[in-house]
Amino acid sequence: MEAIDFTDALRTGIEEIDSQHEVLIDIHNELVEAMQKNHGNRVMNEILARLFQYSKEHFQDEEALLEAHHYPELQKHRQRHLDLVKSIRRYIFRHTRSGERITHEMVDFIGKWITDHIMVEDMAYVDCVSGRIPADEATHPGSEELVPS
Ligand SMILES: [Fe+2]
Repeated sequence: MEAIDFTDALRTGIEEIDSQHEVLIDIHNELVEAMQKNHGNRVMNEILARLFQYSKEHFQDEEALLEAHHYPELQKHRQRHLDLVKSIRRYIFRHTRSGERITHEMVDFIGKWITDHIMVEDMAYVDCVSGRIPADEATHPGSEELVPS
């Protein structure tokens, strides 16, 4: 369980998204630091609540952006966000009940989820959102083959 460096590998190049990802990573890093300093449940729960709230806000913004660009994988992406929100909620619930025993597992899970999601699923929409693929083509992949040359 380590702090996450916001390196180029995690940058989508979409300014709004990158700055939100950075906030998310900062909150995660706060969680790591609080854990390393052995801060109590009260501090941990406060950071977790912020992480939970900010994740939801960020996912909403991201989904709105994907919708505006007619991203063809939007439904799948939305589902992944939903899965994460549910997992975090479950961890927060367990953490509130059972305390420190699951802190390590939880922080590991959150950190890994953030980096994996950004590097794989978020990177997959970059071409579509940054306009490198025309929206029509993104909506109907392969349709260009139907156009006579
Ligand atoms: Fe995402």
